[in-house]
Amino acid sequence: MLDQSENCSSRVATTAHDEHDRRTKATGPIDSRHSSLHEFLVASQQDSLAFAERFEQLSAYVDDLVRRRHYHYRRVRTGGSAGLARLLDRDSGRVVEVINLASNDYLDLSRHPATIAASIAATQRYGAGTSASPAAIGNTDLHERLERELAAFTNCEAALLYSSGFGMNCGVLSALLRRNDLAIVDSCVHGSVMEGCRGAPMRTFAHNDLDALERILVRSRSQYANRLVVVEGVYSMDGDLAPLADIVRLARRHDAMLMLDEAHSTGVFGARGRGTAEHFGILGGVDIVAGTFSKSLGSVGGFVAGSRRLIRYLQMASRHYVFSASVLPSVAASVLEALRILDDEPSIRERLWRNVEYFGRGLRALGFDIGASASAIFPVMVRDDLKVKALCSCLYDDGIVVTPVVFPGVPEKQSRIRLSVTSGLEPKQMDHALERLAHHAKALQII
Ligand SMILES: Cc1ncc(COP(=O)(O)O)c(C=O)c1O
Repeated sequence: MLDQSENCSSRVATTAHDEHDRRTKATGPIDSRHSSLHEFLVASQQDSLAFAERFEQLSAYVDDLVRRRHYHYRRVRTGGSAGLARLLDRDSGRVVEVINLASNDYLDLSRHPATIAASIAATQRYGAGTSASPAAIGNTDLHERLERELAAFTNCEAALLYSSGFGMNCGVLSALLRRNDLAIVDSCVHGSVMEGCRGAPMRTFAHNDLDALERILVRSRSQYANRLVVVEGVYSMDGDLAPLADIVRLARRHDAMLMLDEAHSTGVFGARGRGTAEHFGILGGVDIVAGTFSKSLGSVGGFVAGSRRLIRYLQMASRHYVFSASVLPSVAASVLEALRILDDEPSIRERLWRNVEYFGRGLRALGFDIGASASAIFPVMVRDDLKVKALCSCLYDDGIVVTPVVFPGVPEKQSRIRLSVTSGLEPKQMDHALERLAHHAKALQII
């Protein structure tokens, strides 16, 4: 264990020599400062190793991260995900309170008394499980009601539930895309979109670059049976918005279909919280709308909405739907309640936006580079994986939890910490976080 009293900058010790080692890959015991997770999970040098060797190498890597206090995965929460959360501290074994800037529960609906009450009532009526896939006997009147409500919410003809947002993207895309189709995706889409597109030809365009998108649309004309453009309303690691109205126009002009993932925009954007499609005045104007229950809707699961025929197709052809147990009744009930709250309690969204504006102003005033963030997600650009890990450790020691985003999540030169703001955060908690962030960022020469 490193001395916990050492300051933030000494946790990095990045020298030209380290940099050289990192590039040339040091031999001997694994030093996590010279390696990235990518090397142990996907890099081709792993391909010929026996399972035991792969497991051994990754374990040694993780052990070294833990030893350096750079291991920021799998924190153990002992209660709800509030602005102030309780965690089990790995070193002391004690429960500690932390300011939570790592939650996607933007409206704090996972702890709203009405969503909790609805989920308890549904469990009592339908049971704790669903017993089967929706294609068999796992579908209930509650599921069907939620599908109707989500269709109305997105202004689409029909909707379909999946037991996770990740599974939804995989299930929808893999069911739609075949060898003669082309997926055209923004380079910053979520891993679940990439995963779903694996079985078909795919082209990526530079993030939010309309010219690059149009070039692909022009060049791929008449080569494919179908072309599907996939973008997100709000990008999960950058917090910026897609220029959605222009993308809809381009897709139409070039006869391509458009799929929009509203994971981080549902509940946050639009006068009634219906996402970026509502924000840009084109609700109902996107072919396929995808979403998740695990962010603003305060639960877990995913959905897709579109034409009646598309949904019927997915009901039969989407393996992640057909061969997986249905969404829990407690989940369906709490999401129905969350949708009602979005309509009936706009003050929660207003409180979120007050916090977003307050925190964003604070970050900018301190001189942080937060890219083009325009949502509840703030990337603080660090551009050095080691500094990201050190900054996260120092913030944790000060009672603040943030999300590190390093290679391969983003290219190393774009590594950052990701901060997310929720409606329940108090100004004094945000002030404290800003003050400590500035202190450590100066020590690490980030600002
Ligand atoms: C844009 C996007 N789509 C899909 C998902 C997957 O959703 P879930 O975590 O609900 O499975 C995420 C998760 O962070 C996401 O950011």
